[in-house]
Amino acid sequence: MTLTSLWRDRLPTETTAAGVVEGHWDVVVIGAGITGLTTGLLLARAGRSVAVIEARQVGAGTTGGSTAKVSVLQGTQLSRIARRQSDTAVEQYVQANTEAQGWVDRYCADHGVALQKRPAYTYATTASGERAARHELAVAQRAGLPVAWVDTPELPFGTRGAVMLRDQTQLDPMELLGALAADLRSHGGTLVEGARVRHVKGRGPVTVDTATGAATADTVVVATNMPILDRGGFFARASAERSYCLAFSGAEPTVQGMYLSADSPSRSLRDTPGPDGPLLLVGGNGHGTGRSASPQARVDDLVAWTRRHFPGAELTHTWSAQDYVTSHALPFVGPLVPGRSDLLVAGGYAKWGMTNGVAAALALSSRLLGGHTDWAAVLDSWSAAWLRGAPQAALLNAEVGWEMTRGWLAPLTRPGGRAPAEGRGEVRLDHVGLPTGVSTVDGVVRRVPAVCPHLGGVLRWNDAEHSWDCPLHGSRFDKDGELLEGPATCGLRPSSA
Ligand SMILES: Cc1cc2nc3c(=O)[nH]c(=O)nc-3n(C[C@H](O)[C@H](O)[C@H](O)COP(=O)(O)OP(=O)(O)OC[C@H]3O[C@@H](n4cnc5c(N)ncnc54)[C@H](O)[C@@H]3O)c2cc1C
Ligand code: FES
Repeated sequence: MTLTSLWRDRLPTETTAAGVVEGHWDVVVIGAGITGLTTGLLLARAGRSVAVIEARQVGAGTTGGSTAKVSVLQGTQLSRIARRQSDTAVEQYVQANTEAQGWVDRYCADHGVALQKRPAYTYATTASGERAARHELAVAQRAGLPVAWVDTPELPFGTRGAVMLRDQTQLDPMELLGALAADLRSHGGTLVEGARVRHVKGRGPVTVDTATGAATADTVVVATNMPILDRGGFFARASAERSYCLAFSGAEPTVQGMYLSADSPSRSLRDTPGPDGPLLLVGGNGHGTGRSASPQARVDDLVAWTRRHFPGAELTHTWSAQDYVTSHALPFVGPLVPGRSDLLVAGGYAKWGMTNGVAAALALSSRLLGGHTDWAAVLDSWSAAWLRGAPQAALLNAEVGWEMTRGWLAPLTRPGGRAPAEGRGEVRLDHVGLPTGVSTVDGVVRRVPAVCPHLGGVLRWNDAEHSWDCPLHGSRFDKDGELLEGPATCGLRPSSA
């Protein structure tokens, strides 16, 4: 089942024929989400020759499935950073996000991209949620943000109050990406869609290989959300978090702000203009990718929650997306490995990449153009801040180890036999004892190898999206084994079992 985001549905992207990749460039950027396109544009504007290479289409990744709040108040994100990092780091993070938001606002005004200004809220419904929200208020105030504690009588459910920051931004991320892509081209940049990068090798120049050709570059920027290159080990310092979004028409009352709960499971609300009045967007029920027994049950729960609080709401769209949460609570922006300034990465935005992706682009382009950005150090991929996340990274990898063991042991207890019920899939052992994913979709039984080509995790069936998801680092494959996203660079080899 393909879940299509409201944004992608509004601006359907045509299936693009794989573009030819060739030539030498000052910079090759891999990935056409908000990070890659903004980085490419800033460099092309400065006169650099730039090619952006995208595996699928513009916006096919997380940006096209984002809730797209361009906000500096980010739930309880500042408290999360403050738990691991210094006050200065929190201030610099706020500066980075404020500058990025200002850049987006100016860019949209100059290029006719619609946006709405809204207050952002972090609201609480329980005593522990209120403690978390009040802590966020204190951290945000210490970092210089003009936040206030307010009541939220406008919401159709009781809250214990909220942190509020006025004048934040919300938009349609596909509209923004469309403008960035057109602008990139008008500044002489090249955008190649339908070309998945499989290898990046060499130095001076660096070679980028795809199925439709190879290009060389003085510098390569890997803007694929989780880097597709394992050198640097970013996959071991961040976890993949998948969550769900819904769009509704006719919801009463209409929401006039961007809300995010401090409590779990999280609930995100915002509006967006629709053809017959505002649509309500609801997000939440996130979980580690490949680690939920039934993603569909989470979708159903989110729909039921919305219908309870907005009784007349009619569901128009359901979708899902994932982002990476780092163990040190800050994004990683800079060299893939220490000392290599020709191979750069950006990611780990913890579901706040609409500002952090732009901040990353500003920092990377400034680095490549010889400029200086005061706050860039806080995002640096190899700063000492990493070490402050070491205990969380150890925990993360212990969980990954457990998932690996569990994945390989579970099929041993599962007998073969009948095909799974419609819409279901499960991992069984094939005739030589290897895990095989067996699924039934639209009456067709399919078998794919259930071992992730990234680092050997055993995949799990996602009953909401009919995909095979890796519980280790978040690679995902469709029912036929085609790669959808994640650090893997190839699909599942066909199974003969
Ligand atoms: C449910 C959800 C809601 C969110 N809501 C918000 C929000 O309200 N506000 C906010 O600030 N952030 C939000 N985020 C986070 C934000 O959307 C992301 O952090 C951001 O979009 C990441 O952008 P990106 O460009 O780095 O990655 P992506 O948008 O994922 O782009 C990466 C691109 O790289 C391409 N790619 C991957 N591998 C290859 C390869 N081998 N070769 C070539 N191309 C490749 C992909 O196809 C993709 O197009 C949300 C995230 C989720 C999951
Ligand atoms: S994504 Fe790393 S093993 Fe699957």
